[in-house]
Amino acid sequence: MSELSPEAIVAATARRDAAVLGNASALPVTRAMFDELMVGCYAPAAFVPVRGEGSRVWDQHGRMYIDFAAGVAVSALGHGHPVMIRALTDQARLLWHVSNWFTNEPALRLARRLVDHTFAERVFFCNSGAEANEAALKLARRYAHDRFGDQKIRVISTHNSFHGRTLFTVTAGGQAKYASGFGPNPAGITHIAYNDVAALEREFEAAGDDICAVILEPMQGEGGMIPGTQEFLHAARRLCTAHHALLILDEIQSGMGRTGALFSYMQKGIVPDILTSAKGLGGGFPIGALLTTSEIASVFGVGVHGTTYGGNPLACAVAGAVFDVVNTIEVLDGVKARHALFMEGLKAINVRRRVFRELRGEGVWLGCELDAPWQGKSMDVVRAAGDAGLMLLVAGPDVVRIAPSLVISLDEILEGLARLETALGRALT
Ligand SMILES: Cc1ncc(COP(=O)(O)O)c(C=O)c1O
Repeated sequence: MSELSPEAIVAATARRDAAVLGNASALPVTRAMFDELMVGCYAPAAFVPVRGEGSRVWDQHGRMYIDFAAGVAVSALGHGHPVMIRALTDQARLLWHVSNWFTNEPALRLARRLVDHTFAERVFFCNSGAEANEAALKLARRYAHDRFGDQKIRVISTHNSFHGRTLFTVTAGGQAKYASGFGPNPAGITHIAYNDVAALEREFEAAGDDICAVILEPMQGEGGMIPGTQEFLHAARRLCTAHHALLILDEIQSGMGRTGALFSYMQKGIVPDILTSAKGLGGGFPIGALLTTSEIASVFGVGVHGTTYGGNPLACAVAGAVFDVVNTIEVLDGVKARHALFMEGLKAINVRRRVFRELRGEGVWLGCELDAPWQGKSMDVVRAAGDAGLMLLVAGPDVVRIAPSLVISLDEILEGLARLETALGRALT
């Protein structure tokens, strides 16, 4: 068989596309195709984004949107950051993929950074937040099994928490609507009210020796932007230590600079046993990570856990570049300065419009809880925001969530807030 040059392959592919689809890359695309072609588990906005730069995104018709969503708290450095483009394209010329039968330089460099700048001594890479939490829960079960025996299987989680969509993580998550109808679900998971110290103490008093892990978000994101109290987070740490259970902190949304620290636990005065990261870690390139100690990691010996794409060189090269930008005083202090600007602007809107019952959050991760007459209408605000040229998020039916790039410009914040006020005026009438 004769060898084809890369140029010949490109030409052959273009000929095939032209024959089969009439030039695939130029195939006209409309939003209606989503409803025709895609599994309907999402309900995307009416416009189709095609290009992004910083915190501005353009749709198919050239209309510009200010991005207060960053995916869902993902694009930590905004769109098209030159450092990310360089890391991705440099790595694309070198090596895209090897299996975990080999290691690779970008993965080891990223692991080095994560270990040097956190409590962790060991890192496991995967592809998403759910996969990182799945690994965390399996690791906690396996650690308890190997060190303390068969009975130590219980996981304590909280109502309204969100930990991902695999069967284990969706069951650990505290929102029944996401976990029902798929049974049998994994057993041994108990949910208590978030921030309820007495309930946590009761669980440990009743059967502390059977508990292998407590899994918590430092602030519940999807569940309504509810901050964890110091008392609750510290009680979880204390009780886990006393009962040889592992504290899993899910920092998939709170981590990588979003609250103004590299990871949120650094501001809370507690250290987890296992930390999970994703979203901002790759700045938009899919990657997840589990961080832990050597002692805990030791139960994941060769073959005990794994994933084909974990530690993918492209993902790790991009994440390494994101890490180096995020983990600087300039960016982390900049997050705190942006917080102040957002709060000032949101409070001023509320003085004029009286639509928010509470404004809360940390860093560039803000929840605007709608006042009583407007409860249940957060999605209406998000839709109106789209019409006003603003990408925005909800955190449940009553809370509008803002989670932009960590480096959104001050002009973009002001422009976005003006558009938000227009949207509030239209949606809440
Ligand atoms: C706190 C938290 N954990 C886990 C996940 C799941 O991450 P992924 O969607 O990447 O699986 C999310 C996603 O919203 C999250 O916010």
